Amino acid sequence: MSYIDIAKKRCAQLQCSEHVTILSIETSCDETAAAIVRDGRVVLSNSVYTQIPLHRKFGGVVPELASRNHVDQIAIVVEQALEDANLCYADIDAIAVTYGPGLVGALLVGVSFAKALALALNIQLIGTHHLMGHIAANYLTYPDLEPPFCCLIASGGHSDIVEVKDYVTFERLGGTRDDAAGEAFDKVARILGLPYPGGPELEKLAKQGDPKAIKFHSSFNESDGYDMSFSGIKTAVINHVHNHPQVSKADVAASFQYSVNTILSDKAVHAAKHTLALAGGVSANRNLRDMLQRKCDKKGLRFCCPDFLYCTDNASMIGSAGYYLLKAGRISDLNLNAVPYLEL
Ligand SMILES: Nc1ncnc2c1ncn2[C@@H]1O[C@H](COP(=O)(O)OP(=O)(O)OP(=O)(O)O)[C@@H](O)[C@H]1O
Ligand SMILES: [Mg+2]
Repeated sequence: MSYIDIAKKRCAQLQCSEHVTILSIETSCDETAAAIVRDGRVVLSNSVYTQIPLHRKFGGVVPELASRNHVDQIAIVVEQALEDANLCYADIDAIAVTYGPGLVGALLVGVSFAKALALALNIQLIGTHHLMGHIAANYLTYPDLEPPFCCLIASGGHSDIVEVKDYVTFERLGGTRDDAAGEAFDKVARILGLPYPGGPELEKLAKQGDPKAIKFHSSFNESDGYDMSFSGIKTAVINHVHNHPQVSKADVAASFQYSVNTILSDKAVHAAKHTLALAGGVSANRNLRDMLQRKCDKKGLRFCCPDFLYCTDNASMIGSAGYYLLKAGRISDLNLNAVPYLEL
């Protein structure tokens, strides 16, 4: 019997079984992460090693350093996830791994490790989309949340408004035409002299500023539809800081944050019919969460956002998404490869 025949048989067995325990692995950028997730919703362990201190001195992620650091950490992080869950390899039914989008060298470490483990343990491999994982972070926080719903993904590399039709089917309604929201936060933070990653630092500084002090405007975002642009706002901030060297940095941070979050929330709330979920690293931004909650309340929508633990990259979200891929029969074989640009 070929590997794929064995895999199909194994997948059919897992689809019928009452409980499925997944070991999940995430190495798409600068976090080496592993988790154990049961039945797509219950996190038994969540182990994350962050490389932020390594990249901070360069002001951003250095891809080659990220890959090498993943190689050093991956086995340790996986062992930690098993130990924290009080399980051994024999208890694992399947392995879910992020295979894209992300940095190719970084993705390859997780994919190669997962393939080797799946072969050695003779268990099912599930290649999982990173953004599907960010969306699934909401399933870990809200046990009753089920598709269909609308989701705003705002992360370091993506800003999309997506209709989640079922657990594995998505329709992109619109999104950024240029910088991602997190990328814009990071770049503006850098202009203000804040360390990497800039998003959380900028949020801290913004608390001391006046969000209405400076109007950072971009006419593109006033058009109908769900497309957005953040690079014009970023340029407006650069020009303002350049032309007003004495300006309050806290006012700049607060005004920029207000501008970006207003665009994200207006567009997403407009797109949502009954439920709006938030996903991706920028979902950790309290100002955005509060703004979305207020606007959803006003429109009579349910609003969901992940626990802070599951906002930025982690493997629990990959374990949840991987479970639903398995249930849908969307399994992988040992030809799985890293795909740096991968559509949802
Ligand atoms: N509190 C916050 N406020 C604003 N931005 C934040 C906050 N916390 C994290 N971020 C931003 O989130 C991003 C990191 O999110 P995430 O880990 O999802 O990105 P990524 O995995 O690099 O990108 P992607 O998920 O698109 O591949 C960074 O740009 C960071 O600045
Ligand atoms: Mg991410």
